[in-house]
This record gives sequence, C-alpha cells and structure tokens, in this order.
Amino acid sequence: MSGSENIPRHVAIIMDGNGRWARERGLPRVEGHRAGAESVRTIVRAAGEVSVEFLTLYAFSIENWIRPRSETSALMKLLSLYLRNEVRELNKNNVRLEAIGRLGDLPETAQREMDAARRATANNTGLTLILALSYGARAEIVDAVRSITADAQAGVVKPEQVDEALLSSRLYTARYPDPDLLIRTSGEMRLSNFLLWQMSYAEMWITPTLWPDFRKPEFLKAIEEYGKRQRRFGGVEPA
Ligand code: IPE
Ligand code: IPE
Ligand code: MG
Repeated sequence: MSGSENIPRHVAIIMDGNGRWARERGLPRVEGHRAGAESVRTIVRAAGEVSVEFLTLYAFSIENWIRPRSETSALMKLLSLYLRNEVRELNKNNVRLEAIGRLGDLPETAQREMDAARRATANNTGLTLILALSYGARAEIVDAVRSITADAQAGVVKPEQVDEALLSSRLYTARYPDPDLLIRTSGEMRLSNFLLWQMSYAEMWITPTLWPDFRKPEFLKAIEEYGKRQRRFGGVEPA
C-alpha cells in the first residue's frame, strides 16, 4: 500500500467469529475471545501506523448479555485484563483510549479499569481507540432522544431546533466523525445494532476471515480497497 492519500479517518470494526474460530479447533469459546484480543492489539497498532484517526471496535453488544453467564463473565475478565495490560502499549503507540455504550452495565472492576486506562492515555495525540461496550445503537438513539426531550421539557430546546446535528451531538459518538469504513469479519452481512445512525454513508468491507485470524495484511487490504471506492453521498458520478 502506498500509505498516503485516501485513508479513512474513522474505521469501525464488527469483530465477529471468535466462537467459530474456537469451535474449528475443538476449543472452548473463551479461547477464541483470547485469540481475538491478539488481533485487537495488532489492528490497533496497524491503524495507528497508517494514520487512521479513529478506530471503533465493537467488543460487546448490549444484546450479548443474553449469552450464558459463563461466557459474559469470561469476556468481562478478558476486558479487565486487556485494560490493565494494554495501557503501556497504548502509551508507547500514542493511542488515546475511549469507550461508548451503556458502560454502567459493566462490572465495577471493568468500569474502574476503563476509567484508569482512559485517564492514563488521555493526553496521547495519535489514534483514538473507541471500545464499544454494552453498546446498542437503538439504546444509544433512545438515550439521545431522552436527553433532548428533557431539554425540551425544561424549555431549553424548541422542537424546531431538533435537527440532525443536534441528535448527533447527543449520541455517545458526539465527539467523533462518522465512520468512513466499516469492516465486519466472519462473513455475516448485517449490522447487528452497531452505529446505525452514524453508518449512513460508511463504505462496507466484509470478509469471511474469522476475527482471530484477521491481522495486519488483511486490514491493509481493506484500507486499500476503501481508497478505490467512489463515495457519492447521494450525488452523481464525478465527470
Ligand atoms: C465476536 O465473536 C465476539 C463477541 C461478540 C463478543 P462471537 O463470540 O460472536 O463468535 P461467533 O460469531 O459465535 O463465531
Ligand atoms: C456483533 O456480533 C457484536 C460484536 C461483535 C461485539 P454478534 O455475534 O453478537 O452478532 P450476531 O448475533 O451474529 O448478529
Ligand atoms: Mg458472532
């Protein structure tokens, strides 16, 4: 890859296929999640290297809580472990860590680790890594509407002031540009309640590769393909 023009500012990834990766090897699902954490490490570094500014990783959906308790608690433990162990590496790579979702749903230890990791990386100026945790796009939109209606009731916002910009400003992602490129691993052709509002004009790249096998070469391939896409935003092909 030439590594210059047409790099997506914001890449969002649905990291899927950990369970299938483990099953293919006759391993428990948690081993797939563990292997997936390695891919996270690799892709965060690669994204920083090619000057992506924002990387949002769908790590745990609000719907994922319906999984067996043994799996959700293993995932929460892995999250805590990642947050504890990764700060040094994030700082080394100048990565600022942030999170979106109903973070209050997470176990208290994970919430504390998250706060600590955010604080420890807050002054970094390279890639912003955004972990989507207990995240659901519909829940996010509901939360945004609630905050707007509360302001409306207080007389701070008038109905005619409600527009796309105002709604965007009440989403968890208020401080980030919309994703330019969405990557989904493991071949599923769906959004699974991820960034529904923000994804309006994102370019999509779906690969059959399972997340634990998704590493730098394929990430670079997705970035390169993105560079060849022609985005129209409803307009016509340029002359
Ligand atoms: C993605 O892998 C990780 C999470 C959703 C937490 P899965 O656990 O969904 O793996 P598959 O889809 O069952 O293979
Ligand atoms: C989406 O994957 C959520 C994450 C990657 C965290 P799922 O495995 O939960 O999605 P579905 O259930 O196959 O749509
Ligand atoms: Mg899955």
